[in-house]
Amino acid sequence: MIKAFAGQHLLSVQELSLEAVETVFSVADRMVPFAERRMVTRVLEGAILGNMFFEPSTRTRVSFGCAFNLLGGEVRETIGMESSSLAKGESLEDTARVLSGYSDVIVMRHPEEGAVDRFAQASRVPVLNGGDGAREHPTQALLDLYTIRRERAALGLSLEGLRIALMGDLRYGRAVHSLVQLLNLYPAIEFHLISPPELALPPVYEEALRSRGHRVFRHDTLAPGLAAADIVYVTRTQEERFPSPEEAARYRGLFRLNQAVYTEHCAPQTVIMHPLPRDSRAGAQELDSDLDAHPALAIFRQADNGVVIRMALFALCLDVVGDVEKDLKPVRWYTGGRRP
Ligand code: NCD
Repeated sequence: MIKAFAGQHLLSVQELSLEAVETVFSVADRMVPFAERRMVTRVLEGAILGNMFFEPSTRTRVSFGCAFNLLGGEVRETIGMESSSLAKGESLEDTARVLSGYSDVIVMRHPEEGAVDRFAQASRVPVLNGGDGAREHPTQALLDLYTIRRERAALGLSLEGLRIALMGDLRYGRAVHSLVQLLNLYPAIEFHLISPPELALPPVYEEALRSRGHRVFRHDTLAPGLAAADIVYVTRTQEERFPSPEEAARYRGLFRLNQAVYTEHCAPQTVIMHPLPRDSRAGAQELDSDLDAHPALAIFRQADNGVVIRMALFALCLDVVGDVEKDLKPVRWYTGGRRP
């Protein structure tokens, strides 16, 4: 089962079976002592990650890099087209042929849908999709589902009977596109899709959910969807994907979750998630900072989970899962205050 990942690309969640997702999660659980800086492993000593980000990124880029470092490997980064030979007219395929000679695995984010697939076809090493345009963000979906399971487990619940509200820009949000496809592998989930009609989830994803027997409700106001959910997944308006800034501005601040809205409409303990970054500029604020101290706000636990999920994916695709716990060392430096 583990072998199915070795040497393989991860370009879309469509490549993942339920069994594969569960494998990633069980390997991720074994990564916690390293992410929490209790133990050190050097299993990827000598390996090189090519981290190629052609779109803005903080969490995804840095957590992929940290995950590789925590396994003992080195990271080489290329950030922005203007700093690579793509700016001189080099094709993605040539870049892939060259970069795969320098790296053992490559992570790529690109603004065009399908560009990471094209790159992967020409690459000699595994490529993990760090987000391609509005299409997919498979590793984000894995860390989101891992978070959902952990947050549910903390309340003594499984995924069974889950009711999730997805709120905001469901049209251009690639994290949502990948997450709903992953959730579609599990039985009997209730989906509440909250968005302006123009930013609704593309029909292909909604139809896939309905055809697997999930209950799907669409809302163009906040209250009914929030009231019906155990988890609210808030998203940012993906301004950079709109045809014009004026068009994006129409949706700015339309749906906002803050303490007052939460208290009025959400059941107690409703878990709040967001892939981040949240748009904290005045007028946007889809997830207000007045909820920051709320125990049900899972957004920073969610971001932390990105490290163990990405460690698991590297260990699986470079086929070292069996060796991760060999020759462990204790952490020698000050680690106080690291975990909440
Ligand atoms: C998301 C993305 O890039 O798609 N961010 C992330 O990777 N955590 C969501 C977003 O940018 O809104």
